[in-house]
Amino acid sequence: MKTVTLIALSLFIGIVPVISPAWSQEDMTVVDNAAFDTPQRTPSVFAHDEHNETAGIDDCAECHHVYEDGKRVDGESSEDQRCSECHGLKGSGGQPSLIRAFHANCKGCHQEQKKGPILCGECHIK
Ligand code: HEC
Ligand code: HEC
Ligand code: HEC
Ligand code: HEC
Repeated sequence: MKTVTLIALSLFIGIVPVISPAWSQEDMTVVDNAAFDTPQRTPSVFAHDEHNETAGIDDCAECHHVYEDGKRVDGESSEDQRCSECHGLKGSGGQPSLIRAFHANCKGCHQEQKKGPILCGECHIK
């Protein structure tokens, strides 16, 4: 009896951390702005899963990319890392600063596809 309970318990505990990032990603409605010292704007609206489904983006590395020697590595992605873990508040070399990284990624694609918001107030809703 005791061993069964223990196994059940360890399975339960083992599973929780694996599932939890997926929960928050599904529930995400805005991009967290905590990495900016004194945010000037409201956090940008971004319903992660819904957005990517509507926009038809299949490749996670479209946003969660991995670079090596200035080139994007095919088939590798970095969704286990925040953008701010690589993009500092100041840019360095070819690596854009955090604010530029977000704007170039989000607005860049919207401009390219002529779909999705490009005006400040459409993302940073008051
Ligand atoms: C497509 C959506 C989008 C548009 C359009 C956009 N932003 Fe942002 N912006 C973001 C995201 C995502 C971040 C990352 C943090 C966050 O959610 O605020 C950000 C961050 C920022 C930040 C740094 C964080 C802060 O609040 O200080 C500023 C300042 C900012 N944007 C200003 C602007 C201004 C000004 C415009 C219009 C010229 C604009 N943005 C247009 C998505 C957008
Ligand atoms: C259009 C851009 C985009 C695409 C495509 C995308 N993501 Fe994200 N994702 C983001 C942004 C932006 C964040 C917030 C990052 C940050 O705060 O630094 C995020 C966060 C996450 C998180 C962390 C959630 C949290 O709350 O901690 C996970 C997990 C994640 N994404 C998984 C994925 C997976 C898996 C895919 C592919 C199926 C994917 N993403 C595709 C933009 C994207
Ligand atoms: C593992 C580190 C890492 C993570 C995590 C990361 N980046 Fe980057 N990113 C880089 C590097 C390195 C470059 C510079 C590539 C070069 O040298 O040209 C770059 C370049 C960029 C560029 C300019 C080139 C391009 O692809 O348009 C944008 C925009 C960008 N990142 C946005 C983001 C966003 C948004 C996130 C989070 C969803 C993110 N990055 C997460 C490492 C990272
Ligand atoms: C690879 C392309 C691509 C990237 C990267 C991208 N978007 Fe979009 N986005 C779209 C498209 C396409 C639409 C229009 C979808 C439709 O309604 O047909 C859209 C629509 C939106 C909308 C309107 C409401 C919605 O969810 O459909 C918001 C808000 C938005 N994007 C925010 C963002 C933010 C914030 C980022 C960066 C973290 C981002 N997008 C990155 C392609 C992209």
